[in-house]
Amino acid sequence: MAASLGAIHAATAAKATTELRSNEDKSRILNAHHETRSLIIAANLEPPVASHVMTGPATRIAVLISGEGSNLQALIDAAQAERLGADIVAVVSNRSAARGLERARAAGIAALHLAAVRGQERSEYDAALAALLAPLDPQLLVLAGFMRILGPRFIKQFAGRMLNIHPSLLPKYPGLDTHRRVLEAQDEWHGATVHFVTEELDAGPAILQYRLRVRPGDTPESLARRVHVGEHIILPHAASWFAAGRLRLVEGSVMLDGRALLAPVSIDEEGDST
Ligand code: GRF
Repeated sequence: MAASLGAIHAATAAKATTELRSNEDKSRILNAHHETRSLIIAANLEPPVASHVMTGPATRIAVLISGEGSNLQALIDAAQAERLGADIVAVVSNRSAARGLERARAAGIAALHLAAVRGQERSEYDAALAALLAPLDPQLLVLAGFMRILGPRFIKQFAGRMLNIHPSLLPKYPGLDTHRRVLEAQDEWHGATVHFVTEELDAGPAILQYRLRVRPGDTPESLARRVHVGEHIILPHAASWFAAGRLRLVEGSVMLDGRALLAPVSIDEEGDST
């Protein structure tokens, strides 16, 4: 744990903020920026308090993908470096040509392809996916570039146990084509968000964000590259929190170490600050 989080801080955390619900915590954070910064480091580096420590076997994670799988690779790398605190038990893709399936095979992880059948209802695909996952008994599902919308029944089944990575600073720009939309809107900031999945697309409670300042001359491609760097940091990070029992969704609120987050924890690209 400590090694990975230290690396994250060294590599990227020019500024990091977190807001916690109690007034005492809030004023501490608002009054002293350097203290906020140390709060996230503390949140990251300190061993979880006893009541949040997960005992027993490692958390079983299944990852759903559709394409390149660079975020999957970041999870695999974290697992292999023992920074994830979890086993990736399977990777499922709706596309047989997804490069992520090769990445899974190369890492010795079950690589499963579940194609949608022409004319099939969404609920039928979801039921097939649930049936495929059932024997693997995953405790956490990570959507890492899974380009299918999951229906309410499936989402209920995995409520509070499903994370998604999205290439924008949610709630801004749910859906597709986020980099182009950010440039068109001339936004100053862009980034990526890890959030719990709920029924509304890309709208579940946000956990962790990576922020970067849009530069003159940025293109959708350059933004995609920079955002990907951040995604590969925050996704394994959030998954490791969940695996350690530190992260939960309770009545719609993100709880980290037993405290509700008012806003997602955020990490800025190196060199950026507000
Ligand atoms: C990422 O940008 C992620 O935010 C989005 O899909 C993309 C997947 O990229 N949901 P990769 O397949 O992990 O490289």
